[in-house]
Amino acid sequence: MSQQREHWSSSFGFVLAATGSAVGLGNLWKFPYITWENDGGAFVLVYLVCIAAVGMPIMLAELLIGRKTQKSAVAAMREAVGPAWGLVGAWGVLTGFVILSYYVVIAGWSLRYFAMTAGWTISGLPAEFDLGADFAAFALSGGKQVGLAAVFMAVTIGIVRSGVNHGIERTARVLLPVLFVILLLLLFSALSLEGSAEALAFMFHMDFSSLRLESVLEALGHAFFTLSLGMGAMIVFGSYLSKRDSVVKAGAIIVILDTMIALMATAIMFSVIFSVPGMREQVGASPVGMLFISLPELFYTTVPFGNLLAPLFYLLVGFAALTSTIALLEVVASYLIDEHGVERTKAAIISGACIFAITIMASLSLGAVDGFSTFEVFDGKQGVFANLDHFASNWQLPIGGFLITLAAGWVMTREATEAELREGGVPGWYSYGAWRFFIRYVAPVAVGAIIVAVIAFGVDFS
Ligand code: PHE
Repeated sequence: MSQQREHWSSSFGFVLAATGSAVGLGNLWKFPYITWENDGGAFVLVYLVCIAAVGMPIMLAELLIGRKTQKSAVAAMREAVGPAWGLVGAWGVLTGFVILSYYVVIAGWSLRYFAMTAGWTISGLPAEFDLGADFAAFALSGGKQVGLAAVFMAVTIGIVRSGVNHGIERTARVLLPVLFVILLLLLFSALSLEGSAEALAFMFHMDFSSLRLESVLEALGHAFFTLSLGMGAMIVFGSYLSKRDSVVKAGAIIVILDTMIALMATAIMFSVIFSVPGMREQVGASPVGMLFISLPELFYTTVPFGNLLAPLFYLLVGFAALTSTIALLEVVASYLIDEHGVERTKAAIISGACIFAITIMASLSLGAVDGFSTFEVFDGKQGVFANLDHFASNWQLPIGGFLITLAAGWVMTREATEAELREGGVPGWYSYGAWRFFIRYVAPVAVGAIIVAVIAFGVDFS
């Protein structure tokens, strides 16, 4: 079976698809709350430095390994770096497997909140509705948790089975512009609120005295997650890239868009929260619930045009999550396709179904089933969901990322990486020398620090 490998229809199509992979719950959900927990300002600056100094070089490393070999993660690492390095690709496939299994649970929530807020927009906000209590009951409902995740997984499988052009790229071409427009509408509305000045001050005040070592490491760990690095997703996306495209230009656009969207989402949420007296304290008690407990009601009570923007906002969350779940499933499915010659539709269904077996446990671990909810592998992490997230964020991504920096910076030859990076062009503001310095020295030291932090100090990035 020697089929021609599919390619993105254009450089723009690739940028949209890869940005779609990067922009997800990490931007809309995780970044705002870790910014909150780490007291904004200095944390945001450190995060930006991590993105530029570690994220960007690893992004380029993954893209160039993928484009050079035109293979998915396992075969790409084996061919570009050496036979044993196929294991690093396999580690990435496993990481995609784990992340998707719990990510799709939260992704499913966006469907419920979209339906719920759409209902409120039509018939009005119900009087005396307690969102906190409603959320708690929702978490306990096994049927709803499994059902919503199943819908989301089915849609993801349907898109991945349609292939690179007709599935992944086409979805990104439609969803990403919509996502961007919704985000801009929300931003305009939120910035007109009186809390917006305080929100921006919170995000950009430079108070380094409150910055802890853990915060620095958390910023670095999140840089991996949000850019979809350390697990081969960008290797796979790069493998559908043609030699005419500039890896550096595309990589830079993805990194910049992802960062902008995370900052916009954070500005929106904090502007709303800071505009309501007492809300700051309430959120402080449960920053994780910001997106699903604090925000829904505020749309109807505080945000200008909020009754229209609320369902749009949850649609945005759903779209952002979908373009990420597609990428996660593609990493696993493309392994079956390239490595075992499985036909694409079959590969998408098989990988999706296997991953969903774990999803069932994760979705029942939020209180619905005792055994799953009290399951504990990592100290202090309760339930299957929390343990999977902890394992992926604290172990899988940093280790995968570290090995990829070693592979690209130290094992692959200078000639090999230089020729590949230059192919398609390097814009004037960047140079091969700069990339090589970052990938050989800066990135491995920084990522090595995360791993040491996790092992020695038990720092938690999940
Ligand atoms: N980057 C995505 C987010 O921020 C998550 C993701 C990780 C997607 C790895 C694909 C691969 O939500």
